[in-house]
Amino acid sequence: MNSPRQADPGFQSISWKFLVYLLPSVGLVAILVLAAYAYNRAVTTEKHLVEVVQTISEVHSLAVAHPLWTLDFDGLGRSMQTIALHPEIDCVEVTELDSRDRFEWPFDCVSNSSEEQVFSKALSFSERDVGQLNLFFTSRHLDTELKKDVMTGALFFFLLVSVAGIVAFIVLHYTVGRPVKRLIRSIRKAEVNDLPEPVVWDTQDEMGGVISAYNNMIHRVDDNTQELIAAREQAESAVYMKTRFLANMSHELRTPLNAVIGITEMLREEAEEDNSDTEPYDRVAASGRHLLRLIDDILDFSKIEAGKIQLLVEQVDIEELLQEVLVTAKPLADARGNRLVLEYSGTPESVRSDPVRLRQILLNLLSNACKFTSNGTVWLKVADNSINSDPAVHFSVRDTGIGISKEQSEQLFQDFSQADISTTREYGGTGLGLAISQRLCGLLGGEISLQSTVGEGSEFSFTLPEMQIENTMGGASVVL
Ligand SMILES: Nc1ncnc2c1ncn2[C@@H]1O[C@H](COP(=O)(O)OP(=O)(O)OP(=O)(O)O)[C@@H](O)[C@H]1O
Ligand SMILES: [Mg+2]
Repeated sequence: MNSPRQADPGFQSISWKFLVYLLPSVGLVAILVLAAYAYNRAVTTEKHLVEVVQTISEVHSLAVAHPLWTLDFDGLGRSMQTIALHPEIDCVEVTELDSRDRFEWPFDCVSNSSEEQVFSKALSFSERDVGQLNLFFTSRHLDTELKKDVMTGALFFFLLVSVAGIVAFIVLHYTVGRPVKRLIRSIRKAEVNDLPEPVVWDTQDEMGGVISAYNNMIHRVDDNTQELIAAREQAESAVYMKTRFLANMSHELRTPLNAVIGITEMLREEAEEDNSDTEPYDRVAASGRHLLRLIDDILDFSKIEAGKIQLLVEQVDIEELLQEVLVTAKPLADARGNRLVLEYSGTPESVRSDPVRLRQILLNLLSNACKFTSNGTVWLKVADNSINSDPAVHFSVRDTGIGISKEQSEQLFQDFSQADISTTREYGGTGLGLAISQRLCGLLGGEISLQSTVGEGSEFSFTLPEMQIENTMGGASVVL
C-alpha cells in the first residue's frame, strides 16, 4: 500500500514557528532596552545641563555685575556675548535692580522662550544687590543627539536579530525540521499498514539519539510482527484442524448413535407389541438423544469459536416458530411437573432473522427453565419492541425455579460455566447452552440479559432487530 503524501507543514513548521515567535519577542525586548536607555540618558543629560548652566552663571556673575553697577553698558554687552558663546545658552537677560532696565542678547529672550528653561541668579557687587541674571537654555540639541543614538541602536538591534533569526532558522531546519519530517513520513507509512522504514539520520545529537531509538524500535516491532503473523497462522490452522476434527468426529459419532437410537426404537415397538417392559429401551433412546444433543452443542460451539457459523436469514413467521418450540419444550416441562405458558398477542407477526438459530436459543433457555424449576411455571413471552421505524422483537423466558445469585450470574455466559458444582451434580449438563445462546444471539444482533432472585426464579430476555442481509455467512460454512 502506498503511504499517503506527507503534507509539507510550510509556515506551520517548527523552524517557522521559532522565527515567528522569536522575532517579535526579541524585537520587544530591544524596544524596551532602547526606551530604558533613552529615558535614563534624557534624565541624566537634563541634570547635567542644569549643573553646567549653574556653573556658567556663577563663573560669569561678577563679570556682569561690575559693568551693571558702573553703568558700563559696553562692558555689560561684552560679558553677555561671552556667556552666549556657551553652546548650552540660547539667550542672556540681565535686569537692573533699581531702574528695572532689561538687557538681552542675542534677541528678545522672553518672546522667544516657548521651549526654553530659565536659570536665574541674583547679581551683587561689593555686597550690594544690583540686578538679576537670567540664562535661557534648552536641551533641544541634546534631544536630537539622543534620537540619533536611539535610531542607531534600533538599527543595530534589528540587524542583529534578523541575522540571528535567519541563522537559527537554518540551523533548526537542518537539525530538527528535516529529521522530524523523515520520522513522520516513516510513522505515516506504518499507519497505513505498511511496515515502517528505518529513518536515515546519522548525527550525534539528541535528534540522532531519538531516531536511532526509533529505528531500534521498528526493528523490534518488525520481529514481533513476524512472530505474531506466524503464531496467528499457526493458531488459525490449529482452529481449522480442530473444527475439521470435530466435524469428522461428530459425523463418526452420529452415524452409529442414530443407528443405536433407531434400532432401540424398533426393539421398543416390538416389546410394546409383545406387552414386554419398554422402560430399558426408553432409557437407551433418551440417553442416545442426549448424546446427540451434546455432540451438536460441542460442534456449534467450535464453529462459533472459529467464526464459521452460517446464518440463513429469512422472514420468520413468529407464531409458527413458537408452536414448534412449545411442542419440543412441552415434554421437558412435563418431566418436572411444570406449567408452560405462552404470552403472545399476535404482534409482531414476523421478523427477519435466522429461524434455526432463533429456535435453538429459545429451546436452550426453555430447557434451562424447565430443568431448574420443579412443579412451577415457565413463561415464554414475545412482544413487539419496535422503536419508530426500526422493527424489533422482544423475547423472554421466565421461570419460578431455583434462581441464580448475582455472583453466579456474572460468569454464567462464559463457556463451560455452571452456577456451581452442586448444580452439575444434581442437574448434569456441560455449561455450554448459555454460552452458545449468547453468541448466537450476538450474531442475530441481540444480547441476552438476566434478572433473577435466588429461590424465586429467573428471567432471560433479549431483543432481536430485523436483520438486513439475507444468507449471512459468518465465514466459510463447514459441511458436515
Ligand atoms: N433458568 C435457570 N434457572 C437457574 N439456573 C440457571 C437457569 N439457566 C441457567 N442456569 C444456570 O446456568 C448454568 C449454565 O447454563 P447452561 O445452559 O449454559 O449450561 P447447562 O444447562 O448446565 O448445560 P447444557 O445447557 O450444556 O446442557 C446452569 O448450569 C445453571 O447453573
Ligand atoms: Mg442448558
